[in-house]
Amino acid sequence: MNEGTDGDLVWHKVPGEIDESRNYVKALHVAGKKLCIVREAQTLSVTSSRCPHAGADLTHAWCEEGKLVCPFHRHKFNIKTGKGDPGQHNAIRIYPLKKINGTYHVGIKKSLWNKLFG
Ligand code: FES
Repeated sequence: MNEGTDGDLVWHKVPGEIDESRNYVKALHVAGKKLCIVREAQTLSVTSSRCPHAGADLTHAWCEEGKLVCPFHRHKFNIKTGKGDPGQHNAIRIYPLKKINGTYHVGIKKSLWNKLFG
């Protein structure tokens, strides 16, 4: 469900309620994508769900001290910046999140198709 555009971003309404009372890592399906939503220590973050190391599903990861920990080989990614720990030489994508009229929306870059024809 599109809710508007902002430069190269299209803002999509996050389906359902976002629980802001506890910490978790879970899947978020929006705009045909499977993303990962993480809440830890008052930080709410939406990330890509595929680990850049060997493709593990990060929706099965857990969070430690502000880092998402991949369940396969324990690579760690900062949930605010997406950067992997030193030595990993990798990163995950962080998607912007904002409230529009009291409802969370995630910003996803327009595809090349949408840029050309959308
Ligand atoms: S697949 Fe994630 S650390 Fe290897």
